[in-house]
Amino acid sequence: MAELKRGNNSGRNISNKSYVKGLRCRECKREYEIAPVHICEVCFGPLEVVYDYENIKLTKSMLRSRKPNMWRYKELLPIEGDPVVYDVGFTPLFRARNLEKYLGCKEIWIKNDGVNFPTLSFKDRVVSIAVKKAKEFGFKAVACASTGNLANSVASIASIYGMKAFIFIPYDLEPTKILASSIYGVEVIGIKGSYDDVNRLSAEIAEKYRIAFVNINIRPFYSEGSKSYGFEIAEQLSFRLPDHVIVPMAGGSLITKIWKAFLEFKMLGLLKEVDVRMYGAQAEGCAPIVDAVKKGLSIFTPVKNPKTIAKSLAIGNPPDGYYAIKIIRESGGWAESPSDKEIVDAIKILAEKEGIFTETAGGVTMGAFLRLLESGKISKSDSVLISLTGNGIKTQEALTEYVPPVKTIEPTIENFEDLYKDTLKDFTYGM
Ligand SMILES: Cc1ncc(COP(=O)(O)O)c(C=O)c1O
Ligand SMILES: [Zn+2]
Repeated sequence: MAELKRGNNSGRNISNKSYVKGLRCRECKREYEIAPVHICEVCFGPLEVVYDYENIKLTKSMLRSRKPNMWRYKELLPIEGDPVVYDVGFTPLFRARNLEKYLGCKEIWIKNDGVNFPTLSFKDRVVSIAVKKAKEFGFKAVACASTGNLANSVASIASIYGMKAFIFIPYDLEPTKILASSIYGVEVIGIKGSYDDVNRLSAEIAEKYRIAFVNINIRPFYSEGSKSYGFEIAEQLSFRLPDHVIVPMAGGSLITKIWKAFLEFKMLGLLKEVDVRMYGAQAEGCAPIVDAVKKGLSIFTPVKNPKTIAKSLAIGNPPDGYYAIKIIRESGGWAESPSDKEIVDAIKILAEKEGIFTETAGGVTMGAFLRLLESGKISKSDSVLISLTGNGIKTQEALTEYVPPVKTIEPTIENFEDLYKDTLKDFTYGM
């Protein structure tokens, strides 16, 4: 695959060396060799990648000299050799001044993975690692159980690698998300059931066939890609963190990995403190993690029939839910679950104030932020970062009845003037 390089190279100063030592069970700490395994055979705990932190040297000036993509953090990511898809990550992080003014808040930041490469969501971060890893392990086919964005990303990146791909999704996903997978000529399989049914079937297939399911048997490697979102928050804010970070949750992995990224940067001396509260956001119609946080429980009750317009977050039995609850509590944060109506209103606020068309998951995050402000859990004088992880173009169906219809007229200036009689007074020459 060496000839198959996409985009910019990853920049100077990036060693080809991998610092991955192996895998370790998050519960009983038993160690495993690097392999496509994800569950501890002793206690069934999830496995996690372990790095040789003592030998990793990463400084601000080293980072400054590197290309703006997620591979600038390669020492802390689990791939061997060069990536194939280069231009992933380093998405915009900016001060949301209009939103600050509108809400009367002092400091709001937005990080927008809705413009990530190649498929407009944060999933490109995890998939660009997982597919590379699948190739390293010698798999000929990749697959995923997905709520939509992962499907798009696996379909695209598997195509870049020239690998066979099987994409398993709930059959009733948004048509745009289905089309944005099918276009790549991969196998897209709609399952008559919820995401949890899709996931159960995928796990069964992964047991029987040698196929790399990115979020099942490659999961320990895959999930590490989400750390890059956290590294970027720290670096783009000049190596300091905001008071609060709000993150959308489905399986609950992203929020835990952003937290892990902050802790790793502290370990390497790139952050002085990790004094930040982590907040999780889910939709009211599927909020197992939020409900557990609010009830003070450490274990969640799975949601049997998720019902929300935020389909990308509709995972009733989140694999990392337990750890998400833990880090929300440890960091002193909280969780919120806006209704579908609040999600739509929040999407419109982001569009009208900041010019961003975020997907329903972004509406969940923004909607949760509004609730946290209202309840006083987040003070208007604190600094907040809102994580936007997907693009509104992909979830338009959720909004069709909420946006005004197009005003259609005949192509004459009289028709235009009739329509805007009063308004046009303000725009007349010589006034
Ligand atoms: C747009 C978007 N944001 C956030 C998430 C949540 O990610 P996680 O499953 O890591 O909690 C997803 C998951 O599919 C997603 O599609
Ligand atoms: Zn174990």
